[in-house]
Amino acid sequence: MSPPLKNIQPFFVMEILNRAKELERLGKDVIHLEIGEPDFPTPAPVIRKVKECLDQGQIRYTPAAGLPELREAIARYYRERYHLDLSPTRIFVTPGASGAFLLLFGMLVADGDRILLGDPGYPCYANLIRLFGGTATAIPVGPETNFHFTQALFVENWTHDTRGAILASPSNPTGTIVSRETLADLLRFSERRGGFFIADEIYHGLEYAAHSPTALEFTDEVFVVNSFSKYFGMTGWRVGWAVVPDTFVEHAERMAQNLFISAPLPSQQAALAALSQECREELDQRCRSFAERRDFLVAGLIQLGFAVPALPQGAFYVYAECSAFTVDSSEFAKRILEQAGVAITPGKDFGAHHPERYLRFSFTATIPRMGEALTRLQTFLAQDRSARAR
Ligand SMILES: Cc1ncc(COP(=O)(O)O)c(C=O)c1O
Repeated sequence: MSPPLKNIQPFFVMEILNRAKELERLGKDVIHLEIGEPDFPTPAPVIRKVKECLDQGQIRYTPAAGLPELREAIARYYRERYHLDLSPTRIFVTPGASGAFLLLFGMLVADGDRILLGDPGYPCYANLIRLFGGTATAIPVGPETNFHFTQALFVENWTHDTRGAILASPSNPTGTIVSRETLADLLRFSERRGGFFIADEIYHGLEYAAHSPTALEFTDEVFVVNSFSKYFGMTGWRVGWAVVPDTFVEHAERMAQNLFISAPLPSQQAALAALSQECREELDQRCRSFAERRDFLVAGLIQLGFAVPALPQGAFYVYAECSAFTVDSSEFAKRILEQAGVAITPGKDFGAHHPERYLRFSFTATIPRMGEALTRLQTFLAQDRSARAR
């Protein structure tokens, strides 16, 4: 095994998913609240457009940075949504946000570099940083800071060998949004230290109170990642984008050529259609459904005795504390799947900061299905309580 490969952790949620699939093959009904994937289908206008393109044989390479008309449409999206003028030359279309991370970490991380990330957080960051020879320094964050970095945490943890930081807002697994003031402070701090800052904005558009600010509102010297997977609901199309500072455009072009030549053309056409006004109205309606689901699930979990220390402000996750029931959320999640047929993700997928206390519930199922999940959990908890009392 190559040395970097030794540092790559699997997704533990896959264990849950595989077992859930096995139970389904055996005829058991499983309610899926474990996966970070919207349950809505790709909007119909997107499918129509891609069918047309396929019929015309549009299945070739594109320029490495992406279809020019898609890069322009993304720039327009920034104008409409954030009132920002962004040059399309700074936008790189990638195979999902995951492709954007490869592009950015490939440009920015060298052997021995220390990169700061929040714990709990999205697990791929640390694995990819290690793949490029860097050290991922996980900083514990909790409800007291809305599960985000603060400037004080940067001051405390930014050492001479720190090269940068990455932050997702709204966050996975907590759905919390970093405040405008804190984001501005963090950007100023990393710029003063000559470090890079990557803002993972993949859950933008799925917000239930105030909109998340984009890091690009504060500075052009920032790397922003986004994707068509979440708000646009197009996980399997594998298309996302990165915005880079002007001085990195040429490097990014070279990296993109070598890493993936181009994102798939049918997916880029799909992305272009998804940015149309017609689709956006449907997507915003979906966002309102997610808001209703969030309120339903949070209230139901609290009623059952879970704690929700930070209300999700965006994304589609509830990071619920289960210490009232167990000291080991992984074992608990496995038992819930086996006995109640409800699949959820244990905290251990998101880091080492008290993962045993937390479970992540995705509200990517309908309200009736989540209602059924809550009923099953109630029965499970009652049985568990009486088994423990015996
Ligand atoms: C915070 C975060 N960033 C990036 C990704 C990867 O997204 P994509 O499907 O665009 O590669 C995910 C997927 O769950 C995520 O939660």
